[in-house]
Amino acid sequence: VPIAGVLGWPIAHSRSPRLHGHWLQRYGIDGHYIPIPVMPEHLAEVLRAMPRMGFVGANVTIPHKESVLALADVVTDRAALIGAANTLIFRSDGKIHADNTDGYGFIANIRQHAPGWIPDLGPAALIGAGGAARAVVASLLESGVTELRIANRTRIRAEQIRAEFGARVVVYDWAQAGNMLEGAITVVNATSMGMDGKPPLRVPLDALAPGTLVTDLVYTPLMTPFLLEAQARGCEIVDGLGMLLHQAAPGFERWFGHRPEVDDDLRRAVL
Ligand code: ATR
Repeated sequence: VPIAGVLGWPIAHSRSPRLHGHWLQRYGIDGHYIPIPVMPEHLAEVLRAMPRMGFVGANVTIPHKESVLALADVVTDRAALIGAANTLIFRSDGKIHADNTDGYGFIANIRQHAPGWIPDLGPAALIGAGGAARAVVASLLESGVTELRIANRTRIRAEQIRAEFGARVVVYDWAQAGNMLEGAITVVNATSMGMDGKPPLRVPLDALAPGTLVTDLVYTPLMTPFLLEAQARGCEIVDGLGMLLHQAAPGFERWFGHRPEVDDDLRRAVL
């Protein structure tokens, strides 16, 4: 019986067990997916033991997404570029393969909910430059976006992304995050602002044109103040839950041999 799980510290609030559990049940697959709390200093030891315990792979979440790269035997190019992995495959030859599917999940979510979106039709504007933002940058550039504007409270993190991802990235000052939305056809919040218990993102949205694709990586609440205001301005809104759902699909398929569907049943199971 194949076993997979999610490694994090803490791990209690992870939605991945419900997500994969729903798919296992729906497809009648004899397998398990469990949450595994692992302290940072124990990650290497735990990873080494997992294949021998019957694990076929794992997801990794905070705080292990970066450190797992140094422990994997094979790291995909995109995981290396992003500087983090979220999906591990324990190969039959004993090697640990690390990939990052967050960018795939980000794009798949938009494509599912805004099928008319054409990423390379105009500039994209990204608010935030943390770990989650880097996966968005990689996937937008891979989708052919020719100009990717980034503003982050701590400007140097945005500069770092430009240094690593190249000249299609244009850094804006945090004080000019509102200006950066002018002419953008895709706008993304990749900061944690607007999350339950945190203040809303305070970027002026006056420059947002109706019809702009606006999405948020925050999904608690599903409709953040940022998305609500964009919606009121006539923008096309995609909430962030689907990114979580879609990023899980490649791992599930590799571990359990079935390409899973992302639909409303799954959304309800995970919420
Ligand atoms: P994640 O992996 O979720 O991206 P992170 O790497 O800690 O987590 O990044 C959090 C993002 O939210 C960053 O862009 C952060 O800005 P800084 O790089 O300046 O820290 C942004 N963020 C968090 N709190 C913020 C606040 N009060 N105002 C503006 N941006 C904030």
